[in-house]
Amino acid sequence: MRKTILLLLTFWIAPTVFASPAEDLAQFQGLFHNAFPNIPNAEFANGAYALDQEGRENWKAIEEFPPYDPNVDNGKKIFEKPFANGKSLADCFPNRGIGIRQTFPRFDAASGQVQTMEVVINQCRTENNEKPYEELSKGNIADVVAYLAFTSRGKPMAVTIPDDPRALAAYEKGKHFFYTKRGQLNFACADCHVNNAGKKIRSETLSPALGHGVGFPTYRSAWGFLGTLHHRYRGCNEQVRAKPFAYQSEEYRDLEYFEAYMNTGIPVSGPSARK
Ligand code: HEC
Repeated sequence: MRKTILLLLTFWIAPTVFASPAEDLAQFQGLFHNAFPNIPNAEFANGAYALDQEGRENWKAIEEFPPYDPNVDNGKKIFEKPFANGKSLADCFPNRGIGIRQTFPRFDAASGQVQTMEVVINQCRTENNEKPYEELSKGNIADVVAYLAFTSRGKPMAVTIPDDPRALAAYEKGKHFFYTKRGQLNFACADCHVNNAGKKIRSETLSPALGHGVGFPTYRSAWGFLGTLHHRYRGCNEQVRAKPFAYQSEEYRDLEYFEAYMNTGIPVSGPSARK
């Protein structure tokens, strides 16, 4: 345990020095592999249950009859149903949406912004004269993402940062968000999910940041529904009494971009169940 803490402290100083995304990635993953040498890389796809043996048994039992099955079915139905003009969501994704979750979020050169799957879904609807989904925490949009994740399970995360200063800037903003202390409690994401990963906070084991997002959307018993990653981000901001950002805000998209790039090689496990 002491060794873990020392390693984490060393790391804490490092991000202030300018490093390329590839250097950040090696350092970030190395940190978790050093701190948890017995946890295989792929296990980090399971969030806190990679580290919490007790919680893991309950989780495995829940995953035998997945509470998100109806969401995947609904997502598939919506995904395949043609719009009024005969096109469908599949027309807006590479490979017609199948087995591509590991490449999201992606940098979009046309808009100069990071696009999550949710953004592409709503943009696709608008372009085809359908109303975009307004509910971005759960519901149909979460169900579609659940279906797309389901078709990509086991594929190693492969988000890229193209050679474009705007892509690098988005990555840097996401990274900065991750390490910035905020809220009345003055906690950064890294304080809980890097420095204290595997430790308990109230009744919950803190998930390691490595793997963050690959299991989303998530059916969380505490929510009672299948929720999006940005719903989780908002919850984490609120926990430290910081003002949450809007769903699909630039701040959260950039944060998702950083976290997803740090997950390079970790298999997609979404959708998933959580306590
Ligand atoms: C005060 C501690 C704390 C801070 C700060 C915090 N979180 Fe969390 N976070 C939690 C707890 C508790 C959970 C639920 C248990 C778990 O899965 O870690 C959680 C869960 C998550 C999950 C879900 C993991 C999974 O696999 O289900 C993600 C993703 C996440 N946090 C991201 C973030 C990000 C990004 C930030 C910074 C904006 C952040 N958190 C800040 C406490 C925190």
